[in-house]
Amino acid sequence: MSTTTNRLWRLAVRPDGMIKQSDFNLVSEPVPALQEGQLRIRNVYLSLDPAMRGWLIDRPSYVPPVQIGEIMRGLAVGVVEESMHPKFAKGDTVQGMFGWQERVVSNGEGVTKLPASPLPLTANLGLFGLAGMTSYFGLLDVGQPKEGETLLVSGAAGSVGSLVGQIGKIKGLRVVGIAGSDDKCEWLVNELGFDAAVNYKKGDLRTQLKEACPKGVDVYFENVGGEILDTVLSVMNPFGRVVVCGLISQYNATEKVPGPYNFAMVISKRLRIQGFIATDFGSRVKEMINDYAQWYMAGKLKYRVDVVQGLEAAPTAINKLFDGSNTGKLIVQVSEV
Ligand SMILES: NC(=O)c1ccc[n+]([C@@H]2O[C@H](COP(=O)([O-])OP(=O)(O)OC[C@H]3O[C@@H](n4cnc5c(N)ncnc54)[C@H](OP(=O)(O)O)[C@@H]3O)[C@@H](O)[C@H]2O)c1
Repeated sequence: MSTTTNRLWRLAVRPDGMIKQSDFNLVSEPVPALQEGQLRIRNVYLSLDPAMRGWLIDRPSYVPPVQIGEIMRGLAVGVVEESMHPKFAKGDTVQGMFGWQERVVSNGEGVTKLPASPLPLTANLGLFGLAGMTSYFGLLDVGQPKEGETLLVSGAAGSVGSLVGQIGKIKGLRVVGIAGSDDKCEWLVNELGFDAAVNYKKGDLRTQLKEACPKGVDVYFENVGGEILDTVLSVMNPFGRVVVCGLISQYNATEKVPGPYNFAMVISKRLRIQGFIATDFGSRVKEMINDYAQWYMAGKLKYRVDVVQGLEAAPTAINKLFDGSNTGKLIVQVSEV
């Protein structure tokens, strides 16, 4: 990697359906010389997240869409290569929305210095990153789980879902996962301690859920949407809570997506459905880090990462989230730690 040039991905066209490499242009540009008050960061790991598909659609949302010609937005961790900024020194590890590129020159705004940690740097994009915040606050604050209740999680073997289920176990719930392969289901039960897991690609989902959740479902953590949400509504208990975290089955839709057919059950079962955005809880990150660190050190929490090599892989690797071939937090490694 040259220190004078930067390779980066700029959005070329808005994707139609799944993201294609040709939706982006990989370009080389000179790295601007540092000015007083600036720092230069070398990206080490980029986080690939399902929400990125939504950022490419030209519609109002919780963040503005990425514009044609802009660098693809994305969370990253990196190392400070050079600093003329009073708060950052060469060698600091930092996190921020540095985007799909090798290097970024910044004035320090939105750059967080990472504390020294015995965990690998990738943990800042998984356990202590967006996935960690999403699962912790989504389940505990939005889902309001109570000991002895049944928690059902879709996308359960993913980065967010696998943490949600483990927090559920720590809090004394019966935890059931929905995932897309037998291998993932086995991992959930045998490695992570879920009480049961069902493969939504095999057999009738409702029958499988009735068996796995004999007392019905009190909290449903929704990562997927579509037919799975519809089926789950039919097995919810009265006064259950549905935490709408994500609807990944719809992110690549090329036509209008129908609403849940079983929506009337929200009335008869007096359900509470609430969406949330993880960053709403940004001021409470310390709470999460304390709990995760304690649980992790006590061996109560496991997580895995799926690291794809090379900046050039980013636009194709992101589809692993949508075809289910990722095994854990999906990350692109851009340079050596
Ligand atoms: N609200 C927030 O602030 C927030 C923040 C972060 C993430 N999220 C949401 O959380 C969810 C999980 O994100 P993540 O980063 O942890 O990704 P992930 O779960 O690690 O990966 C995505 C998984 O979704 C499953 N999937 C993909 N397409 C599917 C479909 N059509 N039907 C059913 N399952 C499908 C696949 O697993 P299978 O093999 O099981 O199909 C895939 O491995 C996403 O919906 C994301 O948008 C929300």
